[in-house]
Amino acid sequence: MKFNIIYLSKVNSTNSYALQQIENNALNHGDVIFTPNQESGKGQADNTWESEPGSNLQASIILTPKMIDAAEQFVLTQLISLAIIDLIKSYLPSKKLKQELKIKWPNDIYVGDKKIAGILFQNFIKGNKIEYSIVGIGINVNQTNFFSSAPNPISIIHKTNKLTDIDILLKQLLNNIGSNYEKLSIKGYFAELKTKYINNMYRFNIWANYSDIEGDFRGKIIDFDEYGRLIVLQESGAEKLYMFKEIKFI
Ligand code: BTN
Repeated sequence: MKFNIIYLSKVNSTNSYALQQIENNALNHGDVIFTPNQESGKGQADNTWESEPGSNLQASIILTPKMIDAAEQFVLTQLISLAIIDLIKSYLPSKKLKQELKIKWPNDIYVGDKKIAGILFQNFIKGNKIEYSIVGIGINVNQTNFFSSAPNPISIIHKTNKLTDIDILLKQLLNNIGSNYEKLSIKGYFAELKTKYINNMYRFNIWANYSDIEGDFRGKIIDFDEYGRLIVLQESGAEKLYMFKEIKFI
């Protein structure tokens, strides 16, 4: 697929800008809003997204994924998360660091226990189709100090000790996304994506501490279903299903 990069020297949030432009019918599939300076970046669940001007990758990609049903939207989450994993992995200097790079369900990218990238999806559904999806991607690249309440940020520079060119990084990211996106209409690709996601999943098949509406517990992530709900085995042997925000990793 082809991407068209729309560069803005400054914007409140690339996702908000994209939404506004879509409402004016001014954006198409493959358009990418890209800025070095986001004045009020948005994170998931009404959080803010901290980014020092000029230091990080911030972009929103417009997709109109006609080949998947709305009920299958978690495949997009998998595809984008894995494109970011492949990208960052190519910059990490050691095998050990590459192995520490994981997707914390549903779509946070972690190195060890620290967050290096996040994704804010805004999917607009019409009938059983995704009319369009705004895929907001924030990757911490060259920022060394973080000041907001973000609990555990880390940047590529902390692991490479050198500056990364953000324009090149964006091109590589779009290449990764583009080549995988085209495979979405191939039969069998969903299964391939799932296997790869599980192979890169933070805390997969490991007993760890969680909390849900009933309190703290020990559990083990064993799978996710077709809607992207997390399946967690409890010590009692019971399996529980969680939607986003229904379970906290402690
Ligand atoms: C998260 O909370 O993990 C999601 C962070 C998403 C940040 C990116 S930066 C580009 C795009 N524009 C925004 O306002 N947010 C996303």
